[in-house]
Amino acid sequence: MGKHATVPGYLIFSAIVACLGGILFGYFTAVISGVLLFVSPMFNLTIAQQGTLVSSILAGGILGSAWASTVTDGWGRRSSMMLAALLFISSGLLQAFAQSYEMLIGGRLIGGLGVGLTSVVCPLYLAEISPPKIRGTLISSYQLAITLGILLSFGVNYFFAFSQDWRSMCSVGVIPAGLFLLGLGFLRETPPFLLRQGKPEQARRALASLRQGGELSQQLAELQGAASAQTSGRWQGLFQPKIRLIVLIGILLSVFQQITGINAVIYYGPKIFALAGSGAMDSALLATFAIGVVNVVATIFSVWSFDKVGRRSLLLLGLTGMSLALLVLAAGFYGSAPWLGTVSLVSLMVYVSFFAISLGPVTWVIIAEIYPLRIRGKAMTVAIMANWATNFLVSRIFLDLVALLAPSGVFLLFAGLSIIGLVFVYRLIPETRGKSLAAIEAELG
Ligand code: BGC
Repeated sequence: MGKHATVPGYLIFSAIVACLGGILFGYFTAVISGVLLFVSPMFNLTIAQQGTLVSSILAGGILGSAWASTVTDGWGRRSSMMLAALLFISSGLLQAFAQSYEMLIGGRLIGGLGVGLTSVVCPLYLAEISPPKIRGTLISSYQLAITLGILLSFGVNYFFAFSQDWRSMCSVGVIPAGLFLLGLGFLRETPPFLLRQGKPEQARRALASLRQGGELSQQLAELQGAASAQTSGRWQGLFQPKIRLIVLIGILLSVFQQITGINAVIYYGPKIFALAGSGAMDSALLATFAIGVVNVVATIFSVWSFDKVGRRSLLLLGLTGMSLALLVLAAGFYGSAPWLGTVSLVSLMVYVSFFAISLGPVTWVIIAEIYPLRIRGKAMTVAIMANWATNFLVSRIFLDLVALLAPSGVFLLFAGLSIIGLVFVYRLIPETRGKSLAAIEAELG
């Protein structure tokens, strides 16, 4: 398939709408890095309360992703995304009008339900509408959308920092949420979901709008084969002998994505720069914005290279670069050199670039494609819950860890975990580039 010539417009439109879910994920999780600077003095927050505020959305994420398989398998992928959009709108408004710390936490918890749901259903939706040859590119576009959402929040934070207007920082997120809801009005359910619902004719029509004529019959046949092989898809299915290992691989990959420290940087960027001696709040926010730009640029590179280079090689390269950058950062803090501000900015940029070409996108792609259809919704849910749970843990305890181990100790810890992650990928992650979901299922399942 000459892929650029044959991607139908409706497929592109559907992917863009689903990616708005990624923008919301990025925006709602990362906007706190700026909000925190202003609400902490306003509500007199302790370190523990700050950690709770940052991580409350992640607790919501655990619940939202836990709930996701019931919603996505029961109501379908599209209705689940609509529900997530409504949750985002409520969350943005509640936070913008919050009169107390508790209301802010409530708003972030509701946003977390939306983020958790989105994090399961958007990659699942993208995997299910995508032709195999561009599946990596499409799902990694979702990661690109997350990074754009993060960058948007950093830009908005910087913009409103001068007026200390944290309420506007929170409310801007309602705009992409409204667009997401609007766009979803034009989407169809995915072909695999419709087949599972016993609606072959609707599935064929949905597939026809997403494919060129030549690919249609072969892909429909493949899908039917995978769908007819399925059983009821119960939770016990995750423990079947051949499935167990794949389920574990997805969980571990998700866990490594978080315990190697990415969100210490994304959510606490301005604080890290302050620790490194960048005095003024606006320069710390500007440095954080620069990290956001690097994150987007490196992700664009990875989207472009995704279906050419392969998932495994990107992971190996990325984890090596992340480990080295973290070691330099730890050494910089340990030696508390006068040029620490520059060392931390450069090493964090390098760290984030390597994350952005590897664990960032590859995690979402792999957990959307390695599971057999019959357990896909549930297995993705478990892996993504593990992602939120470890994200919650790292974000909740990061400030306490800094107090306990000093920044150098914490970054050394993240470096050690990245090296363990490298060994894990080397030993266990299969290459899935260019294979159809049905072929991966036949190989692994
Ligand atoms: C992760 C997020 C992280 C983001 C950074 C995503 O893949 O799941 O937790 O904030 O990448 O770009």
